[in-house]
Amino acid sequence: MDTLTAIASRSSATKLVEPAPSRAQVGQLLQAAVRAPDHGRLAPWRFAVLAGDARHVLGDAMAASLAARTPATAPEVLDGERRKALRAPLIIAVAAAARAHPKVPQLEQLLAVAAAIENLILAAHALGFGTMWKTGTAAYDPLVRSALGFESDDQILGFIYLGTAAALAPVREVDAGGVTRWVGAKTGAA
Ligand SMILES: Cc1cc2nc3c(=O)[nH]c(=O)nc-3n(C[C@H](O)[C@H](O)[C@H](O)COP(=O)(O)O)c2cc1C
Repeated sequence: MDTLTAIASRSSATKLVEPAPSRAQVGQLLQAAVRAPDHGRLAPWRFAVLAGDARHVLGDAMAASLAARTPATAPEVLDGERRKALRAPLIIAVAAAARAHPKVPQLEQLLAVAAAIENLILAAHALGFGTMWKTGTAAYDPLVRSALGFESDDQILGFIYLGTAAALAPVREVDAGGVTRWVGAKTGAA
């Protein structure tokens, strides 16, 4: 699949089932991710791959996070939170290790990781897999961050749910023209 076709045809998977990408395919996806533009070549990305039972690490952490935020949460609601991590056969948690740097602002390091996530998503699409980029309150909870093995000053930018798409969102109608100005052009026409 060529790049423009991949970009134009991608949409989020609303239901993900087995098979997940194989270990070798996950390697391909991560290689694609780290090809992203990277100011200062700081490689600010960190990945935690959760396959099979390892997804419980995230589910348990999400439930613990919810319980800590709202101690009165009913056990069945906590179970629902726990099961969220089972909505795809594979999840890749992506964090940014953005640190103070004399030349590269931390924002730019975050942007590099966001670009890496998009590379990963497009590469998965090109291999025939579905994805959904999710965050939610748990993504910003230090408890979840440490459960996944990230450093305390890393920031989780996404949980990328991966698998075979059993249902896809419609490809969104988008129009860059409406948010673009050709500066200095007389008519504004391209
Ligand atoms: C940083 C980021 C976080 C997101 N978090 C969520 C999320 O927690 N839940 C959700 O339903 N969609 C989330 N989305 C949006 C979806 O991933 C998706 O892009 C959006 O629904 C548009 O659908 P499309 O990808 O099919 O165009 C997030 C997107 C980004 C960029």
